[in-house]
Amino acid sequence: MKADHLLYRISICKSMDQLKQIHLQAFIKGVSLDPFICSKLIVFCCTQDPGSVDYARQVFDIIPEPKVFIWNMMIKGYSRTSRAECAISMYVQMLRRDMKPDNYTFPFLLKGFKKRVRLEFGKGIHCHVCKFGFGSNPAVETSLIHMYSLRDTNDARVVFDACLKSNAITWNIMIAGYNRSKLFDKSRKLFYEMEKSKIKPTCVTLVSMLSVCSKLKDSNGCKHVHGYIKDGRIESNLVLNNALVDAYAACGEMDAALVVFKNMKTRDVVSWTAILSGFLNLGKLDLAREFFDQMPVRDLVSWTAMIDGYIKQNRFKEGLMLFKNMQDAKVEPDEFTMVSILTACANMGALELGEWVNVWINKNKIKNDVFVGNALIDMYFKCWEVSKAVDVFKKMPKRDKFTWTAIIVGYGINGFGYAAVNMFNEMLNASIKPDQVCYLGVLCACTHTGMVDEGRKFFADMSIHHGIEPEVEHYGCMVSLLGRAGLLAQAYDLINTMPVRPNSVVWRALLGACGIHKDVDLAEIAAKKVVELEPENGGVYVLLCNIYAACSRWDDLHELRNIMMIRGVTKIPGSSCIEIYGTVNEFVARDRSHLRSEEIYSTVEMITEDLRVFGYAPEVSETFLDIGE
Ligand SMILES: *[C@@H]1O[C@H](CO)[C@@H](O)[C@H](O)[C@H]1NC(C)=O
Ligand SMILES: *[C@@H]1O[C@H](CO)[C@@H](O)[C@H](O)[C@H]1NC(C)=O
Ligand SMILES: *[C@@H]1O[C@H](CO)[C@@H](O)[C@H](O)[C@H]1NC(C)=O
Repeated sequence: MKADHLLYRISICKSMDQLKQIHLQAFIKGVSLDPFICSKLIVFCCTQDPGSVDYARQVFDIIPEPKVFIWNMMIKGYSRTSRAECAISMYVQMLRRDMKPDNYTFPFLLKGFKKRVRLEFGKGIHCHVCKFGFGSNPAVETSLIHMYSLRDTNDARVVFDACLKSNAITWNIMIAGYNRSKLFDKSRKLFYEMEKSKIKPTCVTLVSMLSVCSKLKDSNGCKHVHGYIKDGRIESNLVLNNALVDAYAACGEMDAALVVFKNMKTRDVVSWTAILSGFLNLGKLDLAREFFDQMPVRDLVSWTAMIDGYIKQNRFKEGLMLFKNMQDAKVEPDEFTMVSILTACANMGALELGEWVNVWINKNKIKNDVFVGNALIDMYFKCWEVSKAVDVFKKMPKRDKFTWTAIIVGYGINGFGYAAVNMFNEMLNASIKPDQVCYLGVLCACTHTGMVDEGRKFFADMSIHHGIEPEVEHYGCMVSLLGRAGLLAQAYDLINTMPVRPNSVVWRALLGACGIHKDVDLAEIAAKKVVELEPENGGVYVLLCNIYAACSRWDDLHELRNIMMIRGVTKIPGSSCIEIYGTVNEFVARDRSHLRSEEIYSTVEMITEDLRVFGYAPEVSETFLDIGE
């Protein structure tokens, strides 16, 4: 009688504190050794959230002869808190005390075998399973397959093939196992085998299959699964619908995805984000944004996806603006958001914001992953903060290929050619294999510093030592390198003998070099090629005009001016960005869209006037590359 009331209280108990009070009552009333009370206490501690397997253990240790059910509960308690070693030790004690495991013992035990538990233990338990005659118990087989599938899908498949496979759970485990190991083809194949074996897929099967379809971009697979929902063979729910929307969207089937989305009775942020990512993957940024603005709730993933969408399409200003909105919405960014923001900062020269990101990363103990470090290095270099970039590089605990590429390219664009070459050699010494981008970086560094011999050597090494065939960009660098050094004939030769079709960049490199060394004839050839390849680019005419002027070829200059007038050649306006008090301002030549453009233009005039007073005349003789006077 006394115990009954306590048993009832345990059954409605909500927390460990309450449970401990009930336990105390049991002591006071002298029923603390009542087997039912002990059993219920242990069950609560081992199965409820939050429970406490350690508390259960205290109760367990005073039970004189625990039944197999109690042993199982203890094993379950350890397994669900990922303490596989304790669960195994419990199992061993159980055997020592002559208790026979039952059909629950092994599933509970194997559940705790997360990936880190060694395979040998799993195999040992497998032997016991056979020894105690549970080799063909479906629940035990399923947990064995699961245990193996976390380690090696081949082992799992052996057990899977030998078992009866009469229910969907066994199949689900194997299908999910293949998916987890990224063996998507095998996973899909098994799904179709399952259908052939007339086993009805469950919701779990279909979610796995959709996950696989999204990876394989298999829209027919999506439609096949969709059929189950359409004709009511399976009752859909939020998770399944989300998986379907996500899979359609991943396959680029936005119409189908939207139909499912619109028919959903309830939607959560995952459903919305699936559509959002679908549009973003297709590069339909503005559609994505429209959708994003309609989202009732936006989480970290959706914010970051949208921001990253802008950055990927070089719409940095809008990306940064959205980041500001994200902060206003009090959504905490993570390292992925930060890498996007750093990329934007790098491209807009927004050093102040970049610095803020750096501080933020350190303060928030963001996982200082290699890829965050790489983005920081890139940002500092693009903002001309060489020493800070190098500082980040030196402090990085781990570096990958991209880290080295960032430092080589960064030194190069900042005019530290020798440092870039040194870094490249250090990278080789650190046994990192350079790739095309890396070679482009070091070749450009040579170009800017005029290191002709080094450049030639790197260019040759590329294919000879590293098996990388130079691409058109590498040839562009070499043409520039040779041309600027005055080796115009060699540069022209290289263009004529290169195995890939020279593009306008290559010809423009030659044209630029002709400008420096005042070679009109070659300049005309190069300019003609650039115009052929890029008829809408007005800059090349200006360049050629400059060269004619520099060589006093006034007739040619006059003629070209006429052609330009007839063709209505305009130049793409130059633009530049500047960050003031954390806001990035973009200026385009002759642009008057800035809020304070009146003030800006009058200040520019003032400065120009002041300069004139001090006898300054703008330097125009060097404006060969793409810029008009
Ligand atoms: C274990 O066996 C009992 C009876 O033999 C059965 O009622 C129960 O459903 C089985 N449980 C599992 C998980 O196989
Ligand atoms: C499928 O596997 C991938 C990783 O390979 C994982 O991200 C995804 O969540 C898995 N899907 C399901 C439904 O288990
Ligand atoms: C190359 O690496 C070794 C250590 O692996 C180091 O002792 C040596 O100084 C390095 N050489 C250069 C040129 O960096």
